[in-house]
Amino acid sequence: MKIVFYGSGNMANAIFTGIINSESVAPENIYLTNKSNQEALEDYHDALGVSYSYDDAELLKDADYVFLSTKPYDFLKLAERIRPYINDNNKFISIMAGLPISYIRENLQKDNPIARIMPNTNAHVGHSVTGISFSTNFGPTSKQEVLTLIEAFGTALEVKEDHLHQVTAITGSGPAFLYHVFEQYVNAGTKLGIEKSQVEESIKELIIGTGKMIERSDLKMEQLRKNITSKGGTTQAGLNALSNHDIEAVFLDCLNAAVKRSIELAETEDD
Ligand SMILES: NC(=O)c1ccc[n+]([C@@H]2O[C@H](COP(=O)([O-])OP(=O)(O)OC[C@H]3O[C@@H](n4cnc5c(N)ncnc54)[C@H](OP(=O)(O)O)[C@@H]3O)[C@@H](O)[C@H]2O)c1
Repeated sequence: MKIVFYGSGNMANAIFTGIINSESVAPENIYLTNKSNQEALEDYHDALGVSYSYDDAELLKDADYVFLSTKPYDFLKLAERIRPYINDNNKFISIMAGLPISYIRENLQKDNPIARIMPNTNAHVGHSVTGISFSTNFGPTSKQEVLTLIEAFGTALEVKEDHLHQVTAITGSGPAFLYHVFEQYVNAGTKLGIEKSQVEESIKELIIGTGKMIERSDLKMEQLRKNITSKGGTTQAGLNALSNHDIEAVFLDCLNAAVKRSIELAETEDD
């Protein structure tokens, strides 16, 4: 299998590193390119053994999967660059937020299969939740191959294309929302009189440990919470105070705002 990345920045790096680590594709069969930063490509070649080139005919010849991994605003230039060299074997995987499959197809001016994915930054540690939608002409074998590639850097969630807005909000932007909550937890913790660095270190460990408990236990989060909440105890007292605030409504506001913005951005690109 030959895979090409048009755009070798932050998110592409998390993806191809995950694929290499999973040993599902040999590094030399992964081809990188970018706009002009050859030094970055040389560094990836030296560190990971990947191939790189600026020759689009060579890149797209025999390429099975072509990641479109530039920023959305660079896509039109990218489409212009690759259009003359696209062949029937190429199947595209776009990681560009907000660009609909129909818009990508229109600008590539070809009917090749296109998948859209919405990964998150946890791809760097192999834990991205990646929303994915396929164009109707994506064959079952290719679909399975793409899902396997995605599982190299986390888990895949196949959804209707319209629902990628919700996935963008819940898990695409999700790490930032959770960081924000953790920041507030640290800020509150430091007000209890313990030194800030100690609070930060403890809460970091608390988050990692809680994540591992969720990962390793068969119990739902609700049950894990109940297991550590004795009647009349300290945890119960804290939870009672929390339930004086409508935290679900706060998150619903946050997610609705992110969905709304995702739709607005997609409509701008559609103009
Ligand atoms: N970061 C996230 O958490 C996240 C999450 C989900 C989705 N995404 C999506 O991922 C995409 C990439 O984001 P990023 O953070 O990885 O961006 P980035 O680090 O800025 O990388 C962009 C890459 O695109 C290359 N590029 C620009 N124009 C090009 C062209 N005409 N031909 C080939 N390559 C070109 C750049 O090359 P040069 O370095 O040579 O300029 C660079 O390698 C975005 O569309 C974003 O929506 C990101």
